[in-house]
Amino acid sequence: MGALDGKVVVVTGAGQGIGREEALACARAGARVVADDLRGAQETAAAIRADGGEALALELDVGDFEAAGRLVAAAVETFGGLDGVVNNAGVIRDRMVFNLSPEEFDLVVRVNLRGAFCTTRHAAAWWKRQGRQGAIVNTTSTSGILGNLGQSNYGAAKAGVAAFTVITALELARYGVRVNAIAPGARTRMTESAFGELEFAGGFDPLDPANVAPVVVWLLSDAAAEVSGQVLGIAGGLVELWEGWHVVASQEQDGRWTPEGLAEAAPRLFGGRPTRAPWRQSSLRRLIEAANSDRPARRIAVPSARAERRASEETQMDDRQVMNQIGNLVEEEHTLERQAAAEGLGEEQQARLRDLEVQLDQCWDLLRQRRARRDAGLDPDDANVRPPNTVEGYLQ
Ligand SMILES: NC(=O)c1ccc[n+]([C@@H]2O[C@H](COP(=O)([O-])OP(=O)(O)OC[C@H]3O[C@@H](n4cnc5c(N)ncnc54)[C@H](O)[C@@H]3O)[C@@H](O)[C@H]2O)c1
Repeated sequence: MGALDGKVVVVTGAGQGIGREEALACARAGARVVADDLRGAQETAAAIRADGGEALALELDVGDFEAAGRLVAAAVETFGGLDGVVNNAGVIRDRMVFNLSPEEFDLVVRVNLRGAFCTTRHAAAWWKRQGRQGAIVNTTSTSGILGNLGQSNYGAAKAGVAAFTVITALELARYGVRVNAIAPGARTRMTESAFGELEFAGGFDPLDPANVAPVVVWLLSDAAAEVSGQVLGIAGGLVELWEGWHVVASQEQDGRWTPEGLAEAAPRLFGGRPTRAPWRQSSLRRLIEAANSDRPARRIAVPSARAERRASEETQMDDRQVMNQIGNLVEEEHTLERQAAAEGLGEEQQARLRDLEVQLDQCWDLLRQRRARRDAGLDPDDANVRPPNTVEGYLQ
């Protein structure tokens, strides 16, 4: 007896990574699965069928409202109903905000956030019409919950997914539809530059994308019938329950504030809390750092802000080294920022802070170029090749 016996589940982004594992796990738990992805869905469906399960493959764009409707309709027409939707499809286009193009912003919001809306809208309407219960699992990220440098587009979309989850859970509760979200962490194509080469002692790989699927199966199952509007983080064997924005301090007076009054009240409002947003690490990052502690990050020379960056210099760092360098630069930047807030900076330190900002941007740009080359099937080390970097290019 499987946890999802008799259920029909749609999984988006099921062609690879976390979504593929979710689709396989749902099928193993007894569900008939509609696997959707722009690429790889056929292979996932074939793997399910080879394992004795039932699956339909579709290659629809989740950001296309009409296509998302066809996804829901296909589940109903092929398997006679719909019980669960896993909104997993996602993309990243990491850049510092001052270099982020509108196209990169729109694509990331379109797939991650609008994609979750499109399927939810069609599925929820069907469940309401039919008077049937359903369950949705959305995919947010610690980038949206905690924030992450170079991901203002992705983090904003994922924060939107968390809010969308909570609100739709409230709206659909009376119709017996549950909505939850997961914030996973795993080694996939999306994160291979960050986690690719890590090795962990012992038999358990905390970055295996298959670690995420059991939580999703449980959330879709009747065993989680009382769970809705929740956000669960998953990193290896760690499952975390997240809570959203909440008030941590307040100041109140009888009547409207003035700017001067606020300036005077601000120290009391913040108390001992930081007045500048700190960079908060996720549990996954801590886990990775622990694994890395045997192999301390090498400090890599990135081209100085003033020096000309040549193609030959780009090839000196692989993705991991760039990520390490970003971590080092951010740490130094934050130390200086804290010092600036506490006691101010001298001229030399101010110049260093500006230099760090530019170096960070260069590192992100370098990483983005490498990822784009890899995505396009090109050699990521070959800095002379300029990869295609358009919305259309990606969707093809
Ligand atoms: N891997 C991680 O550590 C991590 C961390 C936090 C959140 N996430 C989220 O988990 C989800 C899965 O990510 P992953 O790591 O497996 O990445 P991945 O790149 O391996 O898989 C994402 C899949 O989504 C598909 N996709 C992209 N645009 C689509 C569209 N318009 N329509 C349909 N499918 C589309 C891609 O083709 C790809 O197969 C994403 O939402 C991602 O943002 C992943």
